[in-house]
Amino acid sequence: MTSENIVGKILFTEEQILKRANELGAQITEDYKGEKLILIGTLKGAIVWMADIMKRIDLDTEIDFIVASSYGKETTTSGIVKISKDVELDLDGKHVLIVEDIVDSGVTLQRLIEYFNERKAKSVKVCALLDKPSRRITDVKPHYTGFEVEDLFVIGYGLDYDQKYRNLPYISYLEP
Ligand code: IMP
Ligand code: MG
Repeated sequence: MTSENIVGKILFTEEQILKRANELGAQITEDYKGEKLILIGTLKGAIVWMADIMKRIDLDTEIDFIVASSYGKETTTSGIVKISKDVELDLDGKHVLIVEDIVDSGVTLQRLIEYFNERKAKSVKVCALLDKPSRRITDVKPHYTGFEVEDLFVIGYGLDYDQKYRNLPYISYLEP
């Protein structure tokens, strides 16, 4: 991809995404009924989805954010994941729901699940806006998924290419 990137068609409109957020928010509220829940968003990509989903969860919740990036993910399931901004809340004995933009190889997510378990979370689940299962090299699977996408480089609604396009109010892709 060069500087003359071509933005493709709209895959999901804001209206479709909010409709899905309503459904998942209701499901999460039901599944964790009577429990407290910590939502952990992965910066920066998940911020738009985090804002949508948190408003639709009617539970006693706290939120936090983490910045994690993975290296070597193309070649190995044990790609190194670096955490450059950590979660500040105490996770001991708490239900954690990771709010992700997209699950691709799954390397980042696998490591985050391990890490929150090491921090003694009572449970760790994942709510991803997008799932790209064709690229998975780990056996992680989001418990709550907005939409599945084909093997395209998707952008918008928080997702970037080279830090751009995060502000698009819909999900599109870059023409291959
Ligand atoms: P994974 O560890 O390979 O699952 O990487 C997941 C992270 O890579 C996501 O949270 C995104 O930040 C980024 N990513 C993966 N695929 C895409 C894409 O199609 N568009 C934009 N970012 C992506
Ligand atoms: Mg991400």
